[in-house]
Amino acid sequence: MSKVIVSPSILAADFSNLDNELIKMKNAGLEYLHFDVMDGQFVNNVTFGVPLLKELSSKFDFTYDVHLMIVNPKEVYMDYISAGANLLTFHYEAMNSDEEVENLIKLIKKENCKAGISIKPSTDISKIEKFLPILDLVLVMSVEPGLGGQKFLDIALDKISYLSNYKKLHNLAYFISVDGGINGETGPRATKAGADILVSGTYLFKSLSLKEDILRLVK
Ligand code: DX5
Ligand code: ZN
Repeated sequence: MSKVIVSPSILAADFSNLDNELIKMKNAGLEYLHFDVMDGQFVNNVTFGVPLLKELSSKFDFTYDVHLMIVNPKEVYMDYISAGANLLTFHYEAMNSDEEVENLIKLIKKENCKAGISIKPSTDISKIEKFLPILDLVLVMSVEPGLGGQKFLDIALDKISYLSNYKKLHNLAYFISVDGGINGETGPRATKAGADILVSGTYLFKSLSLKEDILRLVK
């Protein structure tokens, strides 16, 4: 099995001490940073956006894994790429048509940014199957988007297995990422099902022994 990537979600970081929180992740050997953008419309909560991404990406060398939980991602995708997104994921459910989805994937890739689609727990994988050949990443939500610290939903495992088999069968190259409730118990289950990237917020940022807890995730 290829090495699994751990992408810490800064949603769970202590924002009064953000620099140190990120340095801690860096020192533990993590190379990705998951950046959850919420607009109060697609989900109830509001988080952060372009200015913070710009500031962090100019200061810290991570692969910026941006997860847009917003309506109308096509209106702002370019701002996030300019601010330093290396991987830009939007929600299938935020789009009006399949044509719009395909166009946005192509527009993102044209800017040399990797393009991802995310699906909520209740969205069937068949909805996004046609996009798999052109996608760089599929982000399988294992909780309802909008909040950190929720319990992992097992339905994500079936989707991950399906995506993993489909990838092999069709010789495709997209990453399979899983987001929500990832910890030392659910992380290895997701990896076993075929996940390449584990997004984890609460488990990592609240950890008292980060290196050991990361090892538990990737074992
Ligand atoms: C939820 C976010 C997640 C969240 C994960 O809407 O997309 O990235 O931060 O947090 P935990 O790991 O605490 O479930
Ligand atoms: Zn996320």
